[in-house]
Amino acid sequence: VEAPAPAPALTTEWSPERIAQQYIIPCMRHYGICVKDSFLRAELAERVLGEVETLSQSGKFRGGQLVSQRTIPSRNIRGDQIAWVEGQEPGCVGIGALMAHIDQAVMYSAVNGQLGDYVINGRTKAMVACYPGNGTGYVRHVDNPNGDGRCITCIYYLNKNWDVKVHGGLLQIYPEGRAVVANIEPLFNRLLIFWSDRRNPHEVRPAYATRYAITVWYFDAKERADAKEKYRLATGQKGVQVPVTQSNKT
Ligand code: OGA
Ligand code: OGA
Ligand code: MN
Repeated sequence: VEAPAPAPALTTEWSPERIAQQYIIPCMRHYGICVKDSFLRAELAERVLGEVETLSQSGKFRGGQLVSQRTIPSRNIRGDQIAWVEGQEPGCVGIGALMAHIDQAVMYSAVNGQLGDYVINGRTKAMVACYPGNGTGYVRHVDNPNGDGRCITCIYYLNKNWDVKVHGGLLQIYPEGRAVVANIEPLFNRLLIFWSDRRNPHEVRPAYATRYAITVWYFDAKERADAKEKYRLATGQKGVQVPVTQSNKT
């Protein structure tokens, strides 16, 4: 008589190593894009959503910024409202925990050259974005076309019962040199990761319901240092911040 299979564990520990090994490393190597559903335990995901809704209702969001557009109103390019969150602010504890979870997953993925030569030494604050559902999206763009230091984009989605056929808001990625489109639905508790450079042009299709997402970008140490140096030389200023983390076109 064969021994019965062991009962499956009722709960699985949240493990950044497991997420790195099973999802992020293989997907980033093969596709440059990775989707992980059910990223946080349900209770924490609910908490993050509640905090974002409260932020949104408290008038803390501003129109998404663009660096170079002088003539076109920015909402014709990106229709989102955004707020930058550091993660320690009152009312942002859950968002801070989300950021810590993404940090761990990314750091475990990048260690020992598992994601190539990147040396990740920092990240931006979290950009909390809300598309109000008035039919605006974000036109096709590259997050980091010119080597500003950002190498990995992580987007965490917060939209329950989202039906792209009704609500739109699909993220479409057009991987460079491939005749494919990656269609990513902005579903609740989904984490999306992709290379921030020209490998991944992408756009947000018009959204017809309130659409929330939280984005953080990770820096490669060398590219970031080079970008700061270029900016210093160009402006003749010393020790200024490259204005990319918070005001640049993302
Ligand atoms: C926490 C925690 C696990 C998870 O940060 O409190 O238990 O899946 N996280 O979010
Ligand atoms: C961005 C962006 C995608 C999304 O803010 O740069 O591309 O799905 N967002 O919200
Ligand atoms: Mn983008």
